[in-house]
Amino acid sequence: MTLSSAPLDSTVWWAHTSSASERLLRLLDRSERERQERFRLQADRDRHLLGRALSRLVLADRTGCAPERVAFELRCRSCEDKARTGAQAPPGVREEPHGKPVPTGAALGWEVSVSHSGEWVVLALARETPVGVDVERVSEARDLAGLAGYALADSEQEAWKAMPEADRTAAFFGYWARKEALLKATGLGLSGGLRRVAVSAPDARARLLSWEGGGGPGAAWLSDLDGGPEYRAALAVLTDREVRLTVHPADRTADLLRG
Ligand SMILES: CC(C)(COP(=O)(O)OP(=O)(O)OC[C@H]1O[C@@H](n2cnc3c(N)ncnc32)[C@H](O)[C@@H]1OP(=O)(O)O)[C@@H](O)C(=O)NCCC(=O)NCCS
Ligand SMILES: [Zn+2]
Repeated sequence: MTLSSAPLDSTVWWAHTSSASERLLRLLDRSERERQERFRLQADRDRHLLGRALSRLVLADRTGCAPERVAFELRCRSCEDKARTGAQAPPGVREEPHGKPVPTGAALGWEVSVSHSGEWVVLALARETPVGVDVERVSEARDLAGLAGYALADSEQEAWKAMPEADRTAAFFGYWARKEALLKATGLGLSGGLRRVAVSAPDARARLLSWEGGGGPGAAWLSDLDGGPEYRAALAVLTDREVRLTVHPADRTADLLRG
């Protein structure tokens, strides 16, 4: 086996919102604490706190440094692409730092992605290779067909509409999680356009099929993650190599968070 065909390691941590605790606040930097205070709902505060604290603890563990020495730069590829083509932000739009947290400082070279929904926070990590993770709670939408029109590519819509009605809600979130994981891996986020990204149907092995209009990754490994029956979740790793995935369940993550 040549070095480049060796499997690439990626790790996923599931954290349950019940493991959020005030003690973790000390792990946040100033801007994260300010953001934390702006959330009005306790559930939003818990999810944000867990995502940021867990990222630091896991990277500190990997690099052997203190969690305070792990820093992140927020990078939004959609805005970077716009800036490169000379497009201006509309007047009055305040450019707050936003985007994908990219480890700097002691954890430079690692790539992470965080997602939260309902009772779950998920963190994914790989070395020198972009990752994107997304978890979505399956919830009844008032206008599911409208949402599907916004989010699904034409080929996906066709397959989705052919499904039994009872399966469509969960299938929609299955599509969404796979597509958003890919968009988050590239750093584009939803501004990259969900409809441009076509993936395999939820009952087939997860795969990126096409990326309309350019700007997509050269190669992508995609897999569903198991967040239980009420959730759909997926992980994208931008590599042409096989991925060796390790998944840490919530009880293992709770131990790490307790320290
Ligand atoms: C950011 C975004 C990907 C989050 O999706 P979501 O389903 O609401 O939330 P998730 O829980 O899955 O992900 C949230 C995490 O994604 C990460 N994230 C933010 N922007 C990201 C990007 N461009 N690429 C990858 N990850 C991103 C952050 O870590 C965030 O966690 P935090 O809120 O605790 O900091 C999505 O809302 C988005 O792209 N929004 C941008 C729309 C916008 O404001 N456009 C104008 C400026 S580009
Ligand atoms: Zn942006």
